[in-house]
Amino acid sequence: MANKSFSLFILGGTGDLAKKKLFPSISRLYANGYLQNLDKVYSLARSKQEDWEQVVCQLDAGLGKLCHFIPFDVRDWNSYAELDKVIKDLKGQELIFFLSISPYLFEDAIRNLGKLLRNYTNPRKIVIEKPFGFDLKSAQKLNDLLYRYFIEEEIYRIDHFLGKDTVQNIFSLRFSNTIFEGIWNRNFIDHVQIVALEKVGVEGRGEFYDKVGAIRDMLQNHMLQMLAFIAMEPPAYMSEKFIRDEKVKVLKNTHIQKLIRGRYEGYLQDVGVDGSTTETFVCAQVSVDNFRWHEVPFYLMTGKALAEKLTQITIVLKEIPQSFTKLLECRPHQNRISFQMAPQSKLTITFELRPPTGRFMACPVETSMEYLFPSEFQEAYEVLLLDVVEGDQSLFIRGDEIEALWEVVMPYLDQKDTPFIYPKGIKIPKPAEDFLKTSEKSWFL
Ligand SMILES: NC(=O)c1ccc[n+]([C@@H]2O[C@H](COP(=O)([O-])OP(=O)(O)OC[C@H]3O[C@@H](n4cnc5c(N)ncnc54)[C@H](OP(=O)(O)O)[C@@H]3O)[C@@H](O)[C@H]2O)c1
Repeated sequence: MANKSFSLFILGGTGDLAKKKLFPSISRLYANGYLQNLDKVYSLARSKQEDWEQVVCQLDAGLGKLCHFIPFDVRDWNSYAELDKVIKDLKGQELIFFLSISPYLFEDAIRNLGKLLRNYTNPRKIVIEKPFGFDLKSAQKLNDLLYRYFIEEEIYRIDHFLGKDTVQNIFSLRFSNTIFEGIWNRNFIDHVQIVALEKVGVEGRGEFYDKVGAIRDMLQNHMLQMLAFIAMEPPAYMSEKFIRDEKVKVLKNTHIQKLIRGRYEGYLQDVGVDGSTTETFVCAQVSVDNFRWHEVPFYLMTGKALAEKLTQITIVLKEIPQSFTKLLECRPHQNRISFQMAPQSKLTITFELRPPTGRFMACPVETSMEYLFPSEFQEAYEVLLLDVVEGDQSLFIRGDEIEALWEVVMPYLDQKDTPFIYPKGIKIPKPAEDFLKTSEKSWFL
């Protein structure tokens, strides 16, 4: 637990993320005694809203007293004069700035905060929400700007998927068990499936989403981060530097081999943009070009307006050369290890055993470990906020890592061809089924 006093400044502290995720997470951490050195929580936004007041009113009385509102416009230097007065009173405290604002405001916020903080010696941290840039060039520009005012150890780039229990369990499963460590390579693994399917369409976010699309919104960050956890080499030491070094190494060897894009029927009406070529669905075959993963395809699929929400990684092992099922003239089932993040958090291993039928045969059985979840922390943001307070950057994206992530998707950004159309509420679009069928594989959903 951090032993120095600190204050938290949430820029955009009246927004959706602050209300739905940040305040509830701060509240639970506080109630469980993790934030004993928290001095103040400041919400900064142009206007105070009634519903923000309601959120704060519902907090534990002790925490409620620490919460304050500062009227603030990120773009207006006069606002920083007000902030200056507040910071003057926080002598020696650590200052944590959480940028929960539109990505179009990140540059102004970084530049202005950076200038203001030059007058102070307080330890400081800056937490930045996704998306970090819109392509490689803009991410590099944002990194350059950050490094003018902050050092890497002060910068926390968030991908909230990394705060999820199941994602962190990939690490524990891989690096704490001889039985899994031995099979984690091209000799035993046939392929890997990473899916993030959503039931919702673009909802009220159409204008924002149309500038982004599924490649930027999901593939470039969450999906590739999950891939990095599956594919990285064991770090020499379990420290943030070594963990992040290994992730960068694997991402630099990751390439998209083919990719298809789709869009749900009715998308153009939802966003009101004629002629848009933005995709709401993407399916990609990705290779990790190193010794361990030679010729093991990674299939990544993500999309909106589908039948069910499902976020899952499935490691599909190779077929054994001979099987009891052959006696019955059916194809042997492949062993699978599956990490599910949604709708449930669970780890499932599927393998073959003889069923109690009295016959000489093998059938797939599942052993599922949902009882391990959720951990003490209900929300990914609880884990991440606590890591920020404690100064552990293992689950945050380093500057070179964010650039490596953009490099993977760069050849596929801003395509001008019209994506294929799929009906809303379908399990998965037909072209995505065919995508695997050509390699005689199918999705495990
Ligand atoms: N919502 C989510 O579930 C979610 C999930 C993952 C990532 N994110 C990321 O989190 C960030 C915030 O998203 P959000 O959904 O919370 O957005 P939002 O609901 O639109 O909230 C934006 C916040 O920024 C404030 N703001 C807008 N213009 C401002 C300005 N010029 N100066 C100061 N404050 C300003 C708004 O209040 P005023 O208008 O009163 O100023 C509001 O508090 C974005 O980067 C987003 O990509 C959000």
